[in-house]
Amino acid sequence: MSGSTVLWTSDEAAAATGGQSQGAWAARGISIDTRTLAQGDLYIALKGEHRDGHAFVSQALEKGAAAAMVSQGADVAYRAPLLVVADTQKGLEDLGRASRARARAKIVAVTGSAGKTTTKEMLNLMLAGEGETLASAASYNNHWGVPLSLARMPRSARYGVFEIGMNHAGEIRALVAQVRPHVAVITTIAPAHLEYFGTIEKIADAKAEIFEGIEPGGAALIPAANSQAERLIAHARAAGVKNILTFGDKEGADARLLAATPTGAGQKISAEIMGEQIEFVLGAPGAHIASNALGALLAVKCAGADMARAAAALKNFAPLSGRGASFRAAGADIIDESYNANPASMAAALSLLGEWPAKGLRIAVLGDMLELGPQSAELHSGLASSIAAAGTDLVFLCGAQMKALWDALPASIRARHAGQSEDLVGPLLETIKPGDAVLVKGSFGSRMAVVINALKARAAA
Ligand SMILES: Nc1ncnc2c1ncn2[C@@H]1O[C@H](COP(=O)(O)OP(=O)(O)O)[C@@H](O)[C@H]1O
Ligand SMILES: [Mg+2]
Repeated sequence: MSGSTVLWTSDEAAAATGGQSQGAWAARGISIDTRTLAQGDLYIALKGEHRDGHAFVSQALEKGAAAAMVSQGADVAYRAPLLVVADTQKGLEDLGRASRARARAKIVAVTGSAGKTTTKEMLNLMLAGEGETLASAASYNNHWGVPLSLARMPRSARYGVFEIGMNHAGEIRALVAQVRPHVAVITTIAPAHLEYFGTIEKIADAKAEIFEGIEPGGAALIPAANSQAERLIAHARAAGVKNILTFGDKEGADARLLAATPTGAGQKISAEIMGEQIEFVLGAPGAHIASNALGALLAVKCAGADMARAAAALKNFAPLSGRGASFRAAGADIIDESYNANPASMAAALSLLGEWPAKGLRIAVLGDMLELGPQSAELHSGLASSIAAAGTDLVFLCGAQMKALWDALPASIRARHAGQSEDLVGPLLETIKPGDAVLVKGSFGSRMAVVINALKARAAA
Protein backbone atom coordinates (compact mmCIF):
# COMPACT_ATOMS: atom_id res chain seq x y z
CA MET A 1 0.00 0.00 0.00
CA SER A 2 1.49 3.35 -0.95
CA GLY A 3 1.75 5.82 1.90
CA SER A 4 -0.14 8.55 0.12
CA THR A 5 -3.33 6.52 -0.14
CA VAL A 6 -3.60 5.85 3.59
CA LEU A 7 -6.65 7.59 5.01
CA TRP A 8 -6.30 6.51 8.62
CA THR A 9 -3.55 4.62 10.44
CA SER A 10 -4.40 2.76 13.63
CA ASP A 11 -2.45 5.34 15.64
CA GLU A 12 -4.25 8.28 14.06
CA ALA A 13 -7.67 6.69 14.49
CA ALA A 14 -6.94 5.80 18.11
CA ALA A 15 -5.77 9.35 18.85
CA ALA A 16 -8.83 10.83 17.11
CA THR A 17 -11.34 8.70 18.98
CA GLY A 18 -9.63 8.00 22.31
CA GLY A 19 -10.10 4.34 21.43
CA GLN A 20 -7.83 1.33 21.83
CA SER A 21 -6.39 -0.08 18.64
CA GLN A 22 -5.70 -3.76 18.44
CA GLY A 23 -2.85 -4.44 16.05
CA ALA A 24 -1.28 -1.92 13.69
CA TRP A 25 -3.28 -1.26 10.54
CA ALA A 26 -3.80 1.34 7.83
CA ALA A 27 -7.12 1.99 6.08
CA ARG A 28 -7.62 3.47 2.63
CA GLY A 29 -11.33 4.19 3.01
CA ILE A 30 -14.26 3.90 5.37
CA SER A 31 -17.34 1.73 5.11
CA ILE A 32 -20.40 1.26 7.27
CA ASP A 33 -21.98 -1.39 5.03
CA THR A 34 -20.36 -4.72 4.13
CA ARG A 35 -22.35 -4.87 0.87
CA THR A 36 -20.38 -1.93 -0.52
CA LEU A 37 -17.19 -2.35 1.48
CA ALA A 38 -13.95 -2.11 -0.51
CA GLN A 39 -10.75 -3.91 0.33
CA GLY A 40 -8.64 -1.85 2.73
CA ASP A 41 -11.60 0.01 4.26
CA LEU A 42 -12.03 0.63 7.96
CA TYR A 43 -15.39 -0.94 8.72
CA ILE A 44 -17.37 0.98 11.34
CA ALA A 45 -20.03 -1.11 13.09
CA LEU A 46 -22.94 1.29 13.62
CA LYS A 47 -26.06 0.41 15.52
CA GLY A 48 -29.00 1.21 13.24
CA GLU A 49 -32.74 1.23 13.86
CA HIS A 50 -33.17 -2.25 12.46
CA ARG A 51 -29.76 -3.87 12.55
CA ASP A 52 -26.56 -3.78 14.52
CA GLY A 53 -23.44 -3.50 12.37
CA HIS A 54 -21.50 -5.51 14.96
CA ALA A 55 -23.16 -8.62 13.53
CA PHE A 56 -21.27 -8.05 10.27
CA VAL A 57 -17.75 -7.46 11.60
CA SER A 58 -16.39 -10.88 10.66
CA GLN A 59 -17.98 -10.59 7.22
CA ALA A 60 -16.30 -7.19 6.78
CA LEU A 61 -12.92 -8.64 7.70
CA GLU A 62 -13.44 -11.57 5.34
CA LYS A 63 -14.14 -9.10 2.55
CA GLY A 64 -10.78 -7.47 3.19
CA ALA A 65 -11.50 -4.68 5.66
CA ALA A 66 -8.25 -3.29 7.07
CA ALA A 67 -9.84 -3.13 10.52
CA ALA A 68 -13.16 -2.71 12.28
CA MET A 69 -14.27 0.00 14.70
CA VAL A 70 -16.46 -1.56 17.37
CA SER A 71 -18.11 -0.48 20.60
CA GLN A 72 -16.63 -1.63 23.87
CA GLY A 73 -18.16 -4.85 25.12
CA ALA A 74 -19.32 -5.96 21.68
CA ASP A 75 -18.98 -9.65 21.01
CA VAL A 76 -16.42 -9.69 18.17
CA ALA A 77 -13.40 -11.74 17.14
CA TYR A 78 -10.66 -11.28 19.68
CA ARG A 79 -7.64 -11.44 17.39
CA ALA A 80 -8.86 -9.20 14.59
CA PRO A 81 -7.43 -5.74 13.80
CA LEU A 82 -9.83 -3.51 15.70
CA LEU A 83 -10.38 -0.06 17.07
CA VAL A 84 -12.39 -0.38 20.26
CA VAL A 85 -14.25 2.80 21.22
CA ALA A 86 -16.89 3.59 23.85
CA ASP A 87 -19.55 4.10 21.19
CA THR A 88 -19.15 3.75 17.42
CA GLN A 89 -21.52 6.62 16.50
CA LYS A 90 -19.41 8.96 18.61
CA GLY A 91 -16.27 7.30 17.25
CA LEU A 92 -17.39 8.10 13.71
CA GLU A 93 -18.05 11.72 14.68
CA ASP A 94 -14.63 11.95 16.35
CA LEU A 95 -13.00 10.65 13.19
CA GLY A 96 -14.96 13.19 11.11
CA ARG A 97 -13.89 16.05 13.39
CA ALA A 98 -10.26 14.94 13.32
CA SER A 99 -10.40 14.73 9.54
CA ARG A 100 -11.76 18.26 9.38
CA ALA A 101 -9.10 19.48 11.80
CA ARG A 102 -6.21 18.09 9.77
CA ALA A 103 -7.63 19.18 6.40
CA ARG A 104 -6.15 22.04 4.39
CA ALA A 105 -9.16 22.00 2.06
CA LYS A 106 -11.64 24.78 1.36
CA ILE A 107 -14.92 23.48 2.70
CA VAL A 108 -18.36 24.12 1.21
CA ALA A 109 -21.58 23.05 2.97
CA VAL A 110 -24.95 22.85 1.22
CA THR A 111 -28.42 22.74 2.74
CA GLY A 112 -31.95 23.74 1.63
CA SER A 113 -35.45 22.36 1.10
CA ALA A 114 -34.63 21.05 -2.40
CA GLY A 115 -31.59 21.01 -4.64
CA LYS A 116 -28.97 20.00 -2.09
CA THR A 117 -27.70 16.95 -3.95
CA THR A 118 -27.95 18.68 -7.32
CA THR A 119 -25.89 21.62 -6.04
CA LYS A 120 -23.41 19.32 -4.28
CA GLU A 121 -22.90 17.33 -7.49
CA MET A 122 -22.39 20.51 -9.53
CA LEU A 123 -19.75 21.65 -7.03
CA ASN A 124 -18.11 18.23 -7.13
CA LEU A 125 -17.95 18.36 -10.93
CA MET A 126 -16.56 21.89 -11.01
CA LEU A 127 -14.07 21.68 -8.14
CA ALA A 128 -12.70 18.25 -9.13
CA GLY A 129 -11.33 19.97 -12.23
CA GLU A 130 -9.53 22.50 -10.01
CA GLY A 131 -7.98 20.15 -7.46
CA GLU A 132 -8.52 16.98 -5.42
CA THR A 133 -12.11 17.11 -4.17
CA LEU A 134 -14.12 15.03 -1.73
CA ALA A 135 -17.91 15.33 -1.92
CA SER A 136 -20.50 13.51 0.18
CA ALA A 137 -21.74 10.35 -1.54
CA ALA A 138 -25.41 10.21 -2.62
CA SER A 139 -27.51 12.18 -0.10
CA TYR A 140 -25.37 11.34 2.91
CA ASN A 141 -26.54 14.34 4.89
CA ASN A 142 -27.62 13.12 8.33
CA HIS A 143 -26.14 12.19 11.71
CA TRP A 144 -24.07 9.37 10.19
CA GLY A 145 -23.80 10.62 6.59
CA VAL A 146 -22.08 13.88 7.48
CA PRO A 147 -19.39 12.49 9.81
CA LEU A 148 -18.82 9.54 7.44
CA SER A 149 -18.27 11.94 4.53
CA LEU A 150 -15.93 14.08 6.63
CA ALA A 151 -13.93 11.07 7.79
CA ARG A 152 -13.52 9.99 4.15
CA MET A 153 -11.85 13.26 3.14
CA PRO A 154 -8.25 12.59 2.06
CA ARG A 155 -5.72 14.67 3.99
CA SER A 156 -4.44 16.01 0.66
CA ALA A 157 -7.87 17.23 -0.55
CA ARG A 158 -8.07 20.83 -1.78
CA TYR A 159 -11.85 21.00 -1.65
CA GLY A 160 -14.54 19.33 0.44
CA VAL A 161 -18.25 19.55 -0.39
CA PHE A 162 -20.77 18.37 2.17
CA GLU A 163 -24.55 18.02 2.00
CA ILE A 164 -26.37 18.77 5.27
CA GLY A 165 -30.01 17.84 5.83
CA MET A 166 -32.52 17.94 8.63
CA ASN A 167 -35.96 16.85 9.77
CA HIS A 168 -36.00 18.81 13.02
CA ALA A 169 -34.65 22.03 14.51
CA GLY A 170 -31.18 21.69 15.99
CA GLU A 171 -29.96 18.98 13.63
CA ILE A 172 -28.14 21.30 11.24
CA ARG A 173 -26.50 23.14 14.15
CA ALA A 174 -24.92 19.88 15.36
CA LEU A 175 -23.80 18.81 11.88
CA VAL A 176 -22.36 22.13 10.73
CA ALA A 177 -20.26 22.25 13.91
CA GLN A 178 -18.51 19.17 12.54
CA VAL A 179 -18.20 20.47 8.97
CA ARG A 180 -17.01 24.03 9.81
CA PRO A 181 -17.48 25.32 6.25
CA HIS A 182 -15.76 28.31 4.69
CA VAL A 183 -18.79 28.69 2.45
CA ALA A 184 -22.38 27.73 3.34
CA VAL A 185 -25.09 27.64 0.66
CA ILE A 186 -28.85 27.52 1.24
CA THR A 187 -30.35 26.38 -2.08
CA THR A 188 -33.97 27.31 -1.37
CA ILE A 189 -36.52 27.41 1.44
CA ALA A 190 -39.85 25.73 0.74
CA PRO A 191 -42.70 24.17 2.69
CA ALA A 192 -41.25 20.67 3.05
CA HIS A 193 -41.62 18.99 6.47
CA LEU A 194 -44.37 21.51 7.21
CA GLU A 195 -46.03 18.88 9.39
CA TYR A 196 -43.27 19.31 12.00
CA PHE A 197 -42.51 22.98 11.56
CA GLY A 198 -45.90 24.58 11.06
CA THR A 199 -44.66 27.63 9.15
CA ILE A 200 -42.14 28.30 6.41
CA GLU A 201 -40.49 30.89 8.69
CA LYS A 202 -39.65 28.14 11.18
CA ILE A 203 -38.18 26.06 8.35
CA ALA A 204 -36.02 29.04 7.37
CA ASP A 205 -34.90 29.43 10.99
CA ALA A 206 -33.85 25.77 11.15
CA LYS A 207 -31.96 25.88 7.83
CA ALA A 208 -30.23 29.10 8.89
CA GLU A 209 -28.50 27.17 11.68
CA ILE A 210 -25.93 26.38 9.00
CA PHE A 211 -24.60 29.95 9.28
CA GLU A 212 -23.66 29.40 12.94
CA GLY A 213 -20.93 26.97 11.88
CA ILE A 214 -19.22 29.13 9.26
CA GLU A 215 -15.49 29.64 9.84
CA PRO A 216 -14.31 33.18 10.64
CA GLY A 217 -14.07 35.14 7.38
CA GLY A 218 -16.37 32.70 5.59
CA ALA A 219 -19.37 33.37 3.38
CA ALA A 220 -23.14 32.79 3.58
CA LEU A 221 -24.89 32.26 0.22
CA ILE A 222 -28.62 32.97 0.07
CA PRO A 223 -31.24 32.49 -2.69
CA ALA A 224 -32.13 36.09 -3.62
CA ALA A 225 -35.63 35.52 -4.98
CA ASN A 226 -36.80 33.30 -2.10
CA SER A 227 -39.59 34.59 0.14
CA GLN A 228 -37.35 33.96 3.16
CA ALA A 229 -34.25 35.74 1.80
CA GLU A 230 -34.44 38.67 4.24
CA ARG A 231 -34.95 36.35 7.18
CA LEU A 232 -31.93 34.25 6.16
CA ILE A 233 -29.79 37.38 5.78
CA ALA A 234 -30.80 38.48 9.29
CA HIS A 235 -29.80 35.05 10.64
CA ALA A 236 -26.44 35.18 8.87
CA ARG A 237 -25.78 38.63 10.37
CA ALA A 238 -26.78 37.46 13.81
CA ALA A 239 -24.36 34.55 13.44
CA GLY A 240 -21.59 37.09 12.87
CA VAL A 241 -21.06 36.32 9.17
CA LYS A 242 -19.64 39.37 7.39
CA ASN A 243 -19.62 38.05 3.86
CA ILE A 244 -23.30 37.59 2.98
CA LEU A 245 -24.00 37.09 -0.73
CA THR A 246 -27.11 36.32 -2.78
CA PHE A 247 -27.76 34.40 -6.00
CA GLY A 248 -30.66 33.95 -8.39
CA ASP A 249 -32.95 35.59 -10.88
CA LYS A 250 -33.21 38.93 -9.13
CA GLU A 251 -31.88 42.40 -9.67
CA GLY A 252 -29.09 43.22 -7.25
CA ALA A 253 -28.16 39.58 -6.62
CA ASP A 254 -24.40 39.04 -6.31
CA ALA A 255 -24.71 36.11 -8.72
CA ARG A 256 -27.45 37.14 -11.07
CA LEU A 257 -29.09 35.23 -13.88
CA LEU A 258 -29.25 37.41 -17.00
CA ALA A 259 -30.66 34.91 -19.50
CA ALA A 260 -31.36 31.20 -19.85
CA THR A 261 -32.01 29.73 -23.30
CA PRO A 262 -33.14 26.09 -23.63
CA THR A 263 -30.89 23.99 -25.88
CA GLY A 264 -32.76 20.71 -25.91
CA ALA A 265 -30.90 18.62 -23.34
CA GLY A 266 -29.81 21.65 -21.35
CA GLN A 267 -29.61 25.43 -21.40
CA LYS A 268 -27.28 28.28 -22.24
CA ILE A 269 -26.82 30.58 -19.28
CA SER A 270 -25.65 34.12 -19.15
CA ALA A 271 -24.93 35.44 -15.68
CA GLU A 272 -23.14 38.19 -13.81
CA ILE A 273 -21.21 36.93 -10.82
CA MET A 274 -19.59 39.47 -8.50
CA GLY A 275 -19.40 41.96 -11.36
CA GLU A 276 -17.96 39.46 -13.82
CA GLN A 277 -20.12 38.45 -16.78
CA ILE A 278 -19.94 34.80 -17.82
CA GLU A 279 -21.67 32.56 -20.33
CA PHE A 280 -21.80 28.79 -20.10
CA VAL A 281 -23.72 25.71 -21.13
CA LEU A 282 -25.52 23.79 -18.40
CA GLY A 283 -26.21 20.16 -19.25
CA ALA A 284 -29.67 20.04 -17.65
CA PRO A 285 -32.85 22.05 -18.23
CA GLY A 286 -35.04 23.98 -15.78
CA ALA A 287 -35.05 27.30 -13.94
CA HIS A 288 -34.44 25.54 -10.61
CA ILE A 289 -31.34 23.85 -12.01
CA ALA A 290 -30.09 27.24 -13.25
CA SER A 291 -30.61 28.67 -9.76
CA ASN A 292 -28.63 25.82 -8.21
CA ALA A 293 -25.85 26.43 -10.74
CA LEU A 294 -25.63 30.11 -9.78
CA GLY A 295 -25.38 29.19 -6.10
CA ALA A 296 -22.70 26.63 -6.90
CA LEU A 297 -20.74 29.10 -9.04
CA LEU A 298 -20.86 31.73 -6.34
CA ALA A 299 -19.54 29.10 -3.91
CA VAL A 300 -16.74 28.26 -6.35
CA LYS A 301 -15.83 31.94 -6.45
CA CYS A 302 -15.87 32.20 -2.64
CA ALA A 303 -13.71 29.08 -2.37
CA GLY A 304 -11.09 30.86 -4.46
CA ALA A 305 -11.27 28.56 -7.50
CA ASP A 306 -11.24 29.63 -11.16
CA MET A 307 -14.88 30.44 -11.85
CA ALA A 308 -14.78 30.67 -15.66
CA ARG A 309 -13.05 27.30 -15.98
CA ALA A 310 -15.39 25.76 -13.42
CA ALA A 311 -18.46 27.09 -15.25
CA ALA A 312 -17.29 25.44 -18.46
CA ALA A 313 -17.44 22.08 -16.67
CA LEU A 314 -21.20 22.45 -16.14
CA LYS A 315 -21.87 21.40 -19.73
CA ASN A 316 -21.13 17.90 -18.42
CA PHE A 317 -23.66 18.16 -15.63
CA ALA A 318 -26.37 15.57 -16.29
CA PRO A 319 -29.71 15.54 -14.44
CA LEU A 320 -29.63 13.02 -11.60
CA SER A 321 -31.66 9.84 -11.57
CA GLY A 322 -35.18 10.55 -10.29
CA ARG A 323 -34.46 14.30 -10.31
CA GLY A 324 -35.05 15.32 -13.87
CA ALA A 325 -33.19 12.61 -15.79
CA SER A 326 -35.21 11.89 -18.93
CA PHE A 327 -35.59 8.85 -21.17
CA ARG A 328 -37.66 7.69 -24.13
CA ALA A 329 -40.54 5.23 -23.83
CA ALA A 330 -42.98 4.46 -26.63
CA GLY A 331 -41.56 7.46 -28.47
CA ALA A 332 -42.45 9.85 -25.65
CA ASP A 333 -40.00 11.82 -23.46
CA ILE A 334 -40.35 10.73 -19.85
CA ILE A 335 -39.08 13.18 -17.22
CA ASP A 336 -38.26 11.12 -14.14
CA GLU A 337 -38.82 13.22 -11.01
CA SER A 338 -39.91 10.22 -8.95
CA TYR A 339 -37.29 10.67 -6.23
CA ASN A 340 -39.17 13.25 -4.18
CA ALA A 341 -41.57 16.20 -4.18
CA ASN A 342 -42.62 19.23 -2.20
CA PRO A 343 -44.56 22.30 -3.40
CA ALA A 344 -41.43 24.10 -4.58
CA SER A 345 -39.95 21.18 -6.48
CA MET A 346 -43.38 20.37 -7.98
CA ALA A 347 -43.66 23.92 -9.28
CA ALA A 348 -40.11 23.74 -10.64
CA ALA A 349 -40.75 20.43 -12.37
CA LEU A 350 -44.05 21.61 -13.87
CA SER A 351 -42.35 24.67 -15.30
CA LEU A 352 -39.78 22.29 -16.81
CA LEU A 353 -42.65 20.34 -18.40
CA GLY A 354 -43.97 23.61 -19.80
CA GLU A 355 -40.59 24.43 -21.38
CA TRP A 356 -40.12 20.93 -22.79
CA PRO A 357 -39.94 20.89 -26.61
CA ALA A 358 -42.90 18.48 -26.93
CA LYS A 359 -44.37 17.74 -30.33
CA GLY A 360 -47.36 15.97 -28.77
CA LEU A 361 -49.14 16.38 -25.45
CA ARG A 362 -47.74 17.55 -22.12
CA ILE A 363 -48.78 15.02 -19.50
CA ALA A 364 -48.29 15.33 -15.72
CA VAL A 365 -48.39 12.16 -13.59
CA LEU A 366 -48.31 13.24 -9.98
CA GLY A 367 -48.40 11.50 -6.59
CA ASP A 368 -48.96 12.91 -3.12
CA MET A 369 -46.54 15.34 -1.51
CA LEU A 370 -46.25 13.92 2.00
CA GLU A 371 -45.66 15.45 5.45
CA LEU A 372 -47.31 18.78 4.69
CA GLY A 373 -49.59 18.88 7.75
CA PRO A 374 -52.86 20.84 7.97
CA GLN A 375 -52.07 22.95 4.87
CA SER A 376 -51.69 19.86 2.72
CA ALA A 377 -54.98 20.12 0.78
CA GLU A 378 -54.37 23.78 -0.02
CA LEU A 379 -50.77 23.12 -1.12
CA HIS A 380 -51.96 20.32 -3.40
CA SER A 381 -54.84 22.24 -4.99
CA GLY A 382 -52.45 25.19 -5.32
CA LEU A 383 -50.53 23.27 -8.00
CA ALA A 384 -53.42 23.94 -10.40
CA SER A 385 -51.93 27.29 -11.40
CA SER A 386 -48.51 25.74 -12.22
CA ILE A 387 -50.29 23.03 -14.22
CA ALA A 388 -52.15 25.66 -16.22
CA ALA A 389 -49.05 27.81 -16.69
CA ALA A 390 -47.17 24.80 -18.08
CA GLY A 391 -49.86 24.28 -20.72
CA THR A 392 -50.45 20.76 -19.40
CA ASP A 393 -52.82 18.79 -21.65
CA LEU A 394 -53.53 15.80 -19.40
CA VAL A 395 -53.14 15.06 -15.70
CA PHE A 396 -52.94 11.65 -14.01
CA LEU A 397 -53.02 11.77 -10.21
CA CYS A 398 -52.75 9.26 -7.38
CA GLY A 399 -53.08 9.39 -3.61
CA ALA A 400 -55.51 10.82 -1.08
CA GLN A 401 -53.84 14.24 -0.94
CA MET A 402 -53.96 14.64 -4.73
CA LYS A 403 -57.76 14.47 -4.59
CA ALA A 404 -57.69 18.17 -3.61
CA LEU A 405 -55.81 18.98 -6.80
CA TRP A 406 -58.12 16.75 -8.87
CA ASP A 407 -61.10 18.75 -7.65
CA ALA A 408 -59.36 22.02 -8.57
CA LEU A 409 -58.54 21.04 -12.17
CA PRO A 410 -60.68 21.72 -15.24
CA ALA A 411 -62.47 18.57 -16.44
CA SER A 412 -60.88 18.92 -19.87
CA ILE A 413 -57.41 17.92 -18.59
CA ARG A 414 -58.44 15.35 -15.96
CA ALA A 415 -57.38 11.90 -17.19
CA ARG A 416 -57.51 9.75 -14.03
CA HIS A 417 -57.30 9.89 -10.24
CA ALA A 418 -56.33 6.62 -8.55
CA GLY A 419 -55.63 5.44 -5.04
CA GLN A 420 -52.04 4.46 -5.71
CA SER A 421 -49.34 4.72 -8.37
CA GLU A 422 -49.78 1.12 -9.62
CA ASP A 423 -53.29 1.95 -10.78
CA LEU A 424 -52.06 4.70 -13.12
CA VAL A 425 -49.74 2.45 -15.11
CA GLY A 426 -52.37 0.84 -17.37
CA PRO A 427 -54.30 4.00 -18.30
CA LEU A 428 -51.06 5.94 -18.81
CA LEU A 429 -49.55 3.32 -21.13
CA GLU A 430 -52.74 3.38 -23.18
CA THR A 431 -52.61 7.16 -23.47
CA ILE A 432 -49.04 8.15 -24.31
CA LYS A 433 -48.06 8.62 -27.93
CA PRO A 434 -44.79 9.40 -29.71
CA GLY A 435 -43.83 13.04 -29.23
CA ASP A 436 -45.54 13.44 -25.85
CA ALA A 437 -43.66 14.77 -22.82
CA VAL A 438 -44.54 13.02 -19.56
CA LEU A 439 -43.54 14.32 -16.13
CA VAL A 440 -43.67 11.75 -13.30
CA LYS A 441 -43.28 13.18 -9.79
CA GLY A 442 -44.30 12.60 -6.17
CA SER A 443 -42.87 12.15 -2.69
CA PHE A 444 -40.70 9.06 -2.30
CA GLY A 445 -43.46 7.45 -0.25
CA SER A 446 -45.93 7.89 -3.11
CA ARG A 447 -43.90 5.31 -5.03
CA MET A 448 -43.98 7.02 -8.41
CA ALA A 449 -40.94 4.89 -9.26
CA VAL A 450 -43.49 2.15 -9.96
CA VAL A 451 -44.72 4.21 -12.91
CA ILE A 452 -41.16 4.95 -14.02
CA ASN A 453 -40.22 1.28 -13.90
CA ALA A 454 -43.26 0.33 -15.96
CA LEU A 455 -42.32 2.96 -18.55
CA LYS A 456 -38.71 1.73 -18.57
CA ALA A 457 -39.91 -1.83 -19.12
CA ARG A 458 -42.01 -0.53 -22.01
CA ALA A 459 -38.98 1.27 -23.41
CA ALA A 460 -36.94 -1.93 -23.26
CA ALA A 461 -39.70 -4.07 -24.80
N1 LIG B 1 -33.47 25.08 -6.37
C1 LIG B 1 -34.53 24.28 -6.43
N2 LIG B 1 -35.79 24.75 -6.20
C2 LIG B 1 -36.86 23.97 -6.27
N3 LIG B 1 -36.81 22.66 -6.57
C3 LIG B 1 -35.60 22.12 -6.82
C4 LIG B 1 -34.41 22.89 -6.77
N4 LIG B 1 -33.37 22.07 -7.08
C5 LIG B 1 -33.88 20.84 -7.29
N5 LIG B 1 -35.22 20.86 -7.15
C6 LIG B 1 -36.16 19.73 -7.21
O1 LIG B 1 -35.91 18.93 -6.07
C7 LIG B 1 -35.78 17.57 -6.41
C8 LIG B 1 -34.69 16.93 -5.57
O2 LIG B 1 -33.43 17.47 -5.91
P1 LIG B 1 -32.14 17.14 -5.02
O3 LIG B 1 -31.01 17.90 -5.60
O4 LIG B 1 -32.01 15.68 -4.89
O5 LIG B 1 -32.55 17.80 -3.63
P2 LIG B 1 -32.25 17.38 -2.10
O6 LIG B 1 -30.88 16.80 -2.06
O7 LIG B 1 -32.34 18.70 -1.39
O8 LIG B 1 -33.32 16.44 -1.70
C9 LIG B 1 -35.50 17.54 -7.89
O9 LIG B 1 -36.12 16.46 -8.48
C10 LIG B 1 -36.09 18.83 -8.41
O10 LIG B 1 -37.45 18.58 -8.76
MG1 LIG C 1 -30.21 15.00 -1.23
